[in-house]
Amino acid sequence: SKITLTVIKADVGGFVGHTDVHPELLEIAKKHLKEKGKMLIDFHVTRVGDDIELIMTHRKGIDNEEVHKLAWDALWSCGEKAKELKLYGAGQDLLKDSFSGNIKGLGPGVAEMEIEERKSEPVIIFMADKTEPGAWNLPLYKMFADPFNTVGLVIDPNMHQGFKFEVYDMIGHKKIIFETPEDIYDMLVFIGATGRYCIRRVYTKNNEIAAVSSTQRMNFMAGKYIGKDDPVLIVRCQNGLPAVGEALEPFANPYLVAGWMRGSHNGPMIPVSLEDAVLTRFDGPPRVCALGFQLAEGKLIGPQDFFKDVAFDNAREKALEIADYIRKMGPFEPHRLPLEELEYTTLPHVAEKLQGRWEE
Ligand code: 13P
Ligand code: 13P
Ligand code: MG
Ligand code: MG
Ligand code: MG
Ligand code: MG
Repeated sequence: SKITLTVIKADVGGFVGHTDVHPELLEIAKKHLKEKGKMLIDFHVTRVGDDIELIMTHRKGIDNEEVHKLAWDALWSCGEKAKELKLYGAGQDLLKDSFSGNIKGLGPGVAEMEIEERKSEPVIIFMADKTEPGAWNLPLYKMFADPFNTVGLVIDPNMHQGFKFEVYDMIGHKKIIFETPEDIYDMLVFIGATGRYCIRRVYTKNNEIAAVSSTQRMNFMAGKYIGKDDPVLIVRCQNGLPAVGEALEPFANPYLVAGWMRGSHNGPMIPVSLEDAVLTRFDGPPRVCALGFQLAEGKLIGPQDFFKDVAFDNAREKALEIADYIRKMGPFEPHRLPLEELEYTTLPHVAEKLQGRWEE
């Protein structure tokens, strides 16, 4: 029968500030999944920056109430501990008081896929902090549509026909399927606008799921702007899909993403090991971790902490140079995000104060 891989994540309080998760919270999450997660085949709990990541496998399919409730309750227990320890922003991503059927819309981020496990099933869980779901657009494009990144698109007969991209409009709340390579110029018009259009899923031309991202956009939830949702992404690899190294390759260039301090700045995405995923400088810079697993009848064999590799040292060094450079711009765009994308804004307040001082 089919296996479902579900990743659910939330920030339920930072230790200290927005930099990290307190280890006691991770223990609570593990204990909860171990004791209450009878329906799971396996799980792995980790964190990147101030976000708790629950990686789970089961046979219940996507959007399963039992699995979502298990994750919600685990995160809720972590939130209670966060309040007790007075961690920063305790309960931040738990927007509702009670669970109602599906965790989507309640605050946590969700990425899940139901798959027929192949003879060998390598998967990568990418997890980022201090950025937003659109941050996956550029690497997903490179992995699945750019032959200068993924040579398999040229030389592997199982990849040569290309892929399908499901792109979601987070403001218009609608989706479109682009076929690559045929539609790449059309698709790039949209996915280059990372604050609005988000690659939610990638499929093979035979409609096999290849990648899925968390797309809930926190900043428009509950009718107000409450912050960017630090995103996760699941990518299946090999055998007609990008090789593990092709899926990791886009992160060798530290591209710019929105997020960082107060969710209101552009900065370089730094690929790091879990050990280096405590975000301090100007609450960042934005960070991405990649954990590899081999699935074996749903068991999570791993993880392999990919960005530990020295092969990403140059990317890190370059990212730090970019960070030095762009930080010098202080509150000026394009380091600071344009007004409509700021997580915080004093504009109405300042504008009101200055009323009467503006002249024609
Ligand atoms: P190996 O020869 O190490 O199995 O590698 C094959 C491959 O396809 C690497 O991308
Ligand atoms: P998080 O979204 O990771 O909580 O960060 C928010 C923030 O304001 C950082 O400065
Ligand atoms: Mg936080
Ligand atoms: Mg965070
Ligand atoms: Mg954030
Ligand atoms: Mg957050």
